[in-house]
Amino acid sequence: MSKKIGIIAGSLRKESYSKKIAKNILSMAPEGFEFSIISIDDLPVYNQDFDDEVIESYHSFRSAANGVDGIIFITPEYNRSVPSALKNAIDVGSRPYGQSVWNNKPAAVFSLSIGTISGFGANHHLRQSLAFLNMPTMQQPEVYLANIGEALDENGNIVNEQVRSFLQQAVDAYTAWFKRTAE
Ligand code: FNR
Repeated sequence: MSKKIGIIAGSLRKESYSKKIAKNILSMAPEGFEFSIISIDDLPVYNQDFDDEVIESYHSFRSAANGVDGIIFITPEYNRSVPSALKNAIDVGSRPYGQSVWNNKPAAVFSLSIGTISGFGANHHLRQSLAFLNMPTMQQPEVYLANIGEALDENGNIVNEQVRSFLQQAVDAYTAWFKRTAE
């Protein structure tokens, strides 16, 4: 049976480069893997009081994350860290206590920016949370995508062949590492 990998883009905006990269990655899944996007768009800001309530968007998000075997995070950088929307999604998935959707799921972190620093700060802040959440995280290759706006056309397709080929290599490395790491 195929291994299911969820792709989470850490931005809410409609024209997000992170969402566009997530879409491009969907078709890069090698044989034996199915990739799907898990949206974080509709999650209210986490409040621990909500642990005792039924919140439909939390339920759908947690179900989607529970239904995959691994996660690829595509994160932009806000103020040298992850956007609050992505941290919020991580917090939502981590609770109620003892029911984390993240536990033991092999992860990869791809970061990007419109400038040259490529989301380095966000990439490593995210890794800190993933360590706590017991998500083994691919170490190499590290994926930092610089000048991302220039790599995509107006339809969101990757037009820079170096970027496409590097992303395919990173996806292949992740799935090969996943097979060694999972179970
Ligand atoms: C940014 N941006 C940004 N870029 C960067 O390289 N380092 C940073 O620390 C920040 N900080 C930052 C804060 C805020 C509030 C915004 C709105 C933007 C620019 C950011 O990389 C750019 O807006 C990306 O396009 C955001 O990703 P999406 O939405 O295209 O996926």
